[in-house]
Amino acid sequence: MKLKYLSENYEKLLDTTITVNGWIQTVRSQKDLSFIKLNDGSNAGGVQLIVDSNLEEKKGNIDEINIGSSLKATGLLVKSPGGGQPYEILVKKLEVLGLAPISEYPLSKGKLPLDYLRNYAHLRTRTQTFGSIFRIKSGISNATHAFFKSKGYLHVNPNIVTVNECEGGAGVFQITEHDISDHSKLPEIKDSVKHDWTRDHFSKPAYLTVSSQLQLEALSCALGSVYTTNKSFRSEHSMTNKHLSEFEHLEIEDAFITLDELMQVGEDYIKSVGQYLLDNCMEDITNLGKFVSKGLEERINTIINTEFKRVRYSEAIDILKQASSLSKPVVYGEDLCSEFENYLTEHFAGPVFVSHWPIAIKSFYMKQCMDGTGECENFDLLMPYKVGELIGGSMREDNLEAMLDVMKSKGVNPEPLDFYLDLRRFGTVPHGGFGLGLDRMCMMFTGMESIKDVVAFPVCYKTCEY
Ligand code: 4AD
Ligand code: MG
Repeated sequence: MKLKYLSENYEKLLDTTITVNGWIQTVRSQKDLSFIKLNDGSNAGGVQLIVDSNLEEKKGNIDEINIGSSLKATGLLVKSPGGGQPYEILVKKLEVLGLAPISEYPLSKGKLPLDYLRNYAHLRTRTQTFGSIFRIKSGISNATHAFFKSKGYLHVNPNIVTVNECEGGAGVFQITEHDISDHSKLPEIKDSVKHDWTRDHFSKPAYLTVSSQLQLEALSCALGSVYTTNKSFRSEHSMTNKHLSEFEHLEIEDAFITLDELMQVGEDYIKSVGQYLLDNCMEDITNLGKFVSKGLEERINTIINTEFKRVRYSEAIDILKQASSLSKPVVYGEDLCSEFENYLTEHFAGPVFVSHWPIAIKSFYMKQCMDGTGECENFDLLMPYKVGELIGGSMREDNLEAMLDVMKSKGVNPEPLDFYLDLRRFGTVPHGGFGLGLDRMCMMFTGMESIKDVVAFPVCYKTCEY
C-alpha cells in the first residue's frame, strides 16, 4: 500500500492489517522495541513502524538495518499513543529488501548541507527535503496541464532536434552522428578545416532546440492556442544559480491575442499554480517551510494575492536612474542585470512586467512598434525572491516585409526559416506567446536558492554527471 493512500484513508484502515514498503529515514532502538520511520516517497510524512525485538516472522538481517535500508513490513494499523504522528504500524512480519551499510551510506548522518547532497543526486531524493521538492515539482506539472486545458489550449511537443537557432545569442549545441572523440577517424574533416555537413546525419547543421517557439507559431497559426513543456538546451557559459544547459520550458503561443492579454495569461497561470500547490501539496510546503524555506506558505499566498505591476522598459530605466544604491550605471538600450531586476521587484513590492524593450537588444521575431521609438511589443516578467526573469514573451512580427527587414538588419539567415516566413505569406494573423522556465518557477514555489536543487539530475555548464 502506498503511504500517500494510507495517510488519506487511515481512519478507514485503523485496526486492519496492511503491508507497506519503503526506505528507512530514521531508526531508534530501545530495549524491547525499535521505532522505524519508513517512507516510500509518496508523501512527506512516511509512517512509523513499531518492531518488537522478539518478532518471529522476519526475513533478512534485521539486526543490521539502518538509515537507507529498504523494508517490506506487514502489521496492524493502530492509533499512535505518541504525539508525533496520528497512527503507526505494529509490525507482525518484516522483510529486509536491501541493507545500506551505515559506514558507507552517504546520507546516514542527520541534516546534510545542500551542496554535499548535490554530489549524490541519485540518493538525495530519499531525504525529506528533496522528496518534498520533487512532489511539488510534479504538482506544478499537474497544475500547468489543468490550467491550460481549462483555457482550451492544446498540448503539443514539437521536435527538439532542429535546424533553427530561434534565440540568436542563447548558444546552441550542434548535433552530429559521428564519434568526434578522435578527429583523425573523421573522413569528412581529414583534409579540410570545415566539417562536411552534407555527409552528416541530416546533410546540414542541426541543433538541440533553444526554444520551441517557431514551431509553436506554425501550430498556433492553425490550431489557435497551443503550449509545450519541451526541454530547451543552451550552451551559454552561465554559472549562475538560475541557469541550466537543459531546462524545462513551458512555452505558449496564441493566435489573435494582444500583448495585454498575453501578460494576463502569464499572471493568471502563475497564480493558479500557486493555488493548486496550496490545495494539493500543503504537507510538502509545510515541511519545506519548517526546515529549509522559512515563510514558504506566506510567500505563495503573497504571490497569489498580489497584483502583478506593469511598466514600460523606458519607465523602468527612469526608476533605476533615480536609485542611488546601484553598483553600475543605468543605460537606456542595455539589458537589466540581476541587481536591477531585484531593485525593480523591491520598488514595486512584487512581480512586475517590464514591456516595450528596444528591438535592438531583443530577438528578431518581436513585433515592432509603429511609433518610431524603436521599441517592440514584448515583456519580461520579473519575480521577487531573487528569482528575477521568469517569463520572456512578445507579440510576433506578422508583417512579411517588416520581418524580412529585421532579419536582414540582425543578420538572421532566412534560409532555414522559410517555413516561418510562409506563416506571414499565407493568412498571417496577429499572434504572440511566451516562454517560462519551469525549473525557475519551482525555485520560486519551493524557496530553493539554486536551480540545481530543483532538478533531479542537473545539467549545466561543466556539470553533467548522469
Ligand atoms: O527569455 P527566453 O530566452 O525566451 C525564449 O526562449 C522565447 N523564445 C520564449 C517564447 O516566447 N516562446 O527564455 C524564456 C524563459 C526565461 O524567462 C527563463 O525563465 C527560462 O526560459 N530560461 C532558463 N531557465 C533555466 N536555464 C536557462 N539557461 C534558461 N534560459 C531561459
Ligand atoms: Mg529572456
